[in-house]
Amino acid sequence: MADKKTFYVTTPIYYPSNKLHVGNSYTTVAADAMARFKRLTGYKVWFLTGTDEHGQKIQRQAESAGKKPAVFVDEIVAWIKELWKELDIQYDDFIRTSEPRHKDKVAHIFKRYYEQGDIYKGKYEGLYCTPCEAYWTERQLDDGNCPDCGRKVELIDEEAYFFKMSKYADRLLDHIEKNPDFIQPPSRKNEMINNFLKPGLEDLCVSRTSFDWGIPVPFDKEHVIYVWLDALSNYITALDYGKEGSLFDEFWPADVQLIGKDILRFHTIYWPIFLMALGEPLPKTVFGHGWLMLQEGKMSKSKGNAIDPMVLADRYSSDALRYFLLREIPFGQDGVFSLESFITRINTDLANDLGNLVSRTLTMAERYFNGILPEPSPQPEKDQELCSTALKTPGVVETAMDQMKISDALAELWLLVKQSNKYIDDNMPWNLAKDPDQKERLGTVIYNLIESIRFIAVMLQPYMPRTPESIWEQLGIKSDQGLQQWESLKKWGQIKPGTVVSRGEDLFPRLNLQAEIRAMRVDKSVEEVSDEPKQEEDQAGLINLEQFQQVDIRVAEIESAEPVPKSDKLLKLEVNIGEDDRRQVVAGLAGYYEPESLIGKQVLFVANLKPVKLRGVLSQGMLLAATDKNGDLALTAIDKKMEPGSRIS
Ligand code: ME8
Repeated sequence: MADKKTFYVTTPIYYPSNKLHVGNSYTTVAADAMARFKRLTGYKVWFLTGTDEHGQKIQRQAESAGKKPAVFVDEIVAWIKELWKELDIQYDDFIRTSEPRHKDKVAHIFKRYYEQGDIYKGKYEGLYCTPCEAYWTERQLDDGNCPDCGRKVELIDEEAYFFKMSKYADRLLDHIEKNPDFIQPPSRKNEMINNFLKPGLEDLCVSRTSFDWGIPVPFDKEHVIYVWLDALSNYITALDYGKEGSLFDEFWPADVQLIGKDILRFHTIYWPIFLMALGEPLPKTVFGHGWLMLQEGKMSKSKGNAIDPMVLADRYSSDALRYFLLREIPFGQDGVFSLESFITRINTDLANDLGNLVSRTLTMAERYFNGILPEPSPQPEKDQELCSTALKTPGVVETAMDQMKISDALAELWLLVKQSNKYIDDNMPWNLAKDPDQKERLGTVIYNLIESIRFIAVMLQPYMPRTPESIWEQLGIKSDQGLQQWESLKKWGQIKPGTVVSRGEDLFPRLNLQAEIRAMRVDKSVEEVSDEPKQEEDQAGLINLEQFQQVDIRVAEIESAEPVPKSDKLLKLEVNIGEDDRRQVVAGLAGYYEPESLIGKQVLFVANLKPVKLRGVLSQGMLLAATDKNGDLALTAIDKKMEPGSRIS
């Protein structure tokens, strides 16, 4: 037998900096649907996902949670794996960049680049966005901020290794131009060429020295490898790159690397250049899908406005959530998540169209034939429309999937669902049942409906893995009969007359939108998606007095100040906040103030922040300071001496 064709699909490896939201789930659900579809249509599939655990951002988050990075990420990774289980993500491998199998290979790859002259040592003086873990030049900034996330960038000045990107720029440009499938959808290609390649690629800084949560440069332990070089390599280290006969030999180059459009630059410029330097082929397609937004804008882990996919899957089923994500937004474009559109999809597509088709058909099969599937008679003309739609749908779905048009594939499948419902309405089995002479016709109608439902269930499997299970049970179809396989869709009439069918529970009960909005508002994770008019204050981003008064701001007098060991930014202060209360605070003031000059100063202080540990030192509040766009910083003071502890209102 000829070897099966292979298919390798990857998702980004997510930062375990916080719990994932429905936006991250979107990429993974799409990748899972692709992987399942390819498995179903006969490919040997490898589906990789994982977590990107190193870097300054994770180290800082762990510090502010008062945990060691390794402990901090372990907890979140466990939650992520639970989430993927809940959403039926059937990955073949989950790579964590903190695993030795990854770290060893990345160190080896880095050494190889160095030895072959792609990496050299220098000094980086420039800008850095820690949330994006990205370097920027002044020219690229957007109003002084990171052009990707809009947040503040930091000035860094440290010894570093650099990768000679410019050496490969022409080859990359040539590859992008000659391979129209490489960057998908095509609209994203010009953005990369015009914004990054044409202006000229600068050498990329690929190591850091100001923190240590990363893979050490093997020949210079003061440095850790830049987190994007570390992370991008996961796509090959997970395949045991470098070992003969490994999965890499079998599956590389990847067929599709799915990412959000936010990280296109890393995947279509850095990543291909890193691969070229290794002499390896480039992925066939990097697909940058669109952004899932909330009505009020972008959702983000750090903004805290993210929607918890676990809560949605628990309440509405993971199949409903998967269906919504895959169907609602044309893959590649931006889309909006709202509870209203989600509930509407459940009610119309799932409860009305699909759910009703299955329940009506099975009720009639039980009522008119005691649940024993009747023998169909030869197909008269009027059944041809249903049969031919059913027979052509698999091909149309496959074409759409090959073009990554996942939403179109589902829309095509739903044409068959709708056509089947129309077949019921056109044939009115309840009237046929009244006439004993029409018994044979009634049997044919019921048989065709059951066969059509079988077709639908086979095709539905990649998108909604649980619903077909319930349909198999209702149709009396066992997994070893071949009737759940894609191959079985080549011919109409595969399910055997005499099969015992039985109506089960409704697949998707209808939901009351208003009741759902009320119920979900109790849950903070979807509070933001209510369709009710928002308070005016919310809309304008304003807060009311009550909200302001929740922040306890006081006059604090600084009594002592000293540097935090091993940190060039932090000072440890003791402040008097009145009522005999003294607090220890860690603040990023070094470089702006000499410690001694702070003693005796009265400043504004937030007294009711949760305590955190920074660099292992407890910080019990926050001094208020202003920063300007040049990166200068000034503490806020009051106009005249006051009693420490005086409240600001
Ligand atoms: O960028 N809509 O990780 P990350 C759609 N570790 N997709 C979204 C989304 C939204 N609102 N928000 C996030 C990283 N995503 C790096 C990747 S890969 C070598 C390293 C998805 O945790 C989308 O796929 O910030 C995006 O690219 C990814 O989550 C970013 O996840």
